[in-house]
Amino acid sequence: MRSNKKAIDRKADKFRTSYGFIAACAGSAVGLGNIWGFPSRLGRGGGFSFLILYILCLALAGIPLLTAELSIGKQYGASPPAAFRAIHPRLGLIGLMQVLACFITLCYYCYFGGKLLEYTAAAVGLKLSGPLLWDIIFTLVTGIIVFLGVQAGIERCSRILMPVLVIILAGLCVFSFSLDGSREALAFMFKPDFTFFNADTFSSALTQLLFSLSVGYGCMITFGAYGAKNSMLKPAIAIAAADTIVAVLAALFIIPSAFVCRISPASGPTLLFDVVPLIFSRLTGSQFMIPVFFSMVFFAALTSSVSMMEVPAVMLMQETKLSRKSSINIIIILTILCSFPICISLRVFEAYEFISQYLLICISSVFTCIAAGWMMKKDYSTALGNAPSVVEKSLVILLCFVTPALLLIVPVSVLTGH
Ligand code: PHE
Repeated sequence: MRSNKKAIDRKADKFRTSYGFIAACAGSAVGLGNIWGFPSRLGRGGGFSFLILYILCLALAGIPLLTAELSIGKQYGASPPAAFRAIHPRLGLIGLMQVLACFITLCYYCYFGGKLLEYTAAAVGLKLSGPLLWDIIFTLVTGIIVFLGVQAGIERCSRILMPVLVIILAGLCVFSFSLDGSREALAFMFKPDFTFFNADTFSSALTQLLFSLSVGYGCMITFGAYGAKNSMLKPAIAIAAADTIVAVLAALFIIPSAFVCRISPASGPTLLFDVVPLIFSRLTGSQFMIPVFFSMVFFAALTSSVSMMEVPAVMLMQETKLSRKSSINIIIILTILCSFPICISLRVFEAYEFISQYLLICISSVFTCIAAGWMMKKDYSTALGNAPSVVEKSLVILLCFVTPALLLIVPVSVLTGH
């Protein structure tokens, strides 16, 4: 095992405060996955049954993996391939898989971020069509923030936007529950339907969770290196809590709204876009609320896409010694080129999503468990700081046995067709 070699040593490349570090990680975690993905997957997965499986996956896989990734970043540096190589020379490929998954996700995230911008602009009367145009705008805005760097760009942006998002969402939940007809939604969200306890709902909950926590994509390794002063247990819990709270708040707003508007909660990815305009039409000043809501989702998506672009850019910088600016320019061009096919056919998005979420992420995360649970030993406990020993032991047991077993269920069940 090699000595700890930190890739990022410039002061400007570290988070300034613990709050900034946690806000940036939570900013990465909270995004389209929470506000768009979670309510629609919950609606399709039988409501409460999905919620139970999701929380189980959070405790048994999400939190252990989050502590593992943050610790790997803290102990070995920012770029996932180099960090994994520092654990064992053969593990570099795992880091590369994570960066690839992150880049593929960035490509479709910029496409949907662009769609969101288009929708927001249309709501204020600016009608410029063409998915590629909006995709390029979203990618460039992301690139500019990444270019500004860790403190000036990522930390500042997340510190302000995260609390604003939680406050607006909480207000919207109160509003949707105050409407007649939202009672049915409570039964849907809080009564189990056992027919949904199956491998499909499980895979959907686990992949949603990993996507939502930004785990398996190298982001948390990269951010762990930037927040190197901290102990990693408390931030991991804070990030997981913030991410789950936002996802549940989003569902508590969208699902009752769907019932009130007589839209099936199982209608899938279009749920958010079907429900929001209808529900706001019941509110005085709705013309004003629709763009406010979608701009909020846009900013949440932006703090996520920024973290996604940081990962391949840092890898390029570290592996090729290119400057930050050149690396970011290359990633921007590649992102636009690879997201272009999605503008032509959404089948390409489905293929990207399948490769990244169902294969690369689950497989590479199994190795993250092996690295942290079996190979890092003292380095993992150093990174956790002064965590109570029972917590540390439980995390190690989960990482060594339980989390990898759960992760393997996803690729095995998709590849065998179950
Ligand atoms: N977690 C983000 C969301 O929920 C998406 C994301 C995935 C961000 C991977 C970074 C890395 O929208």
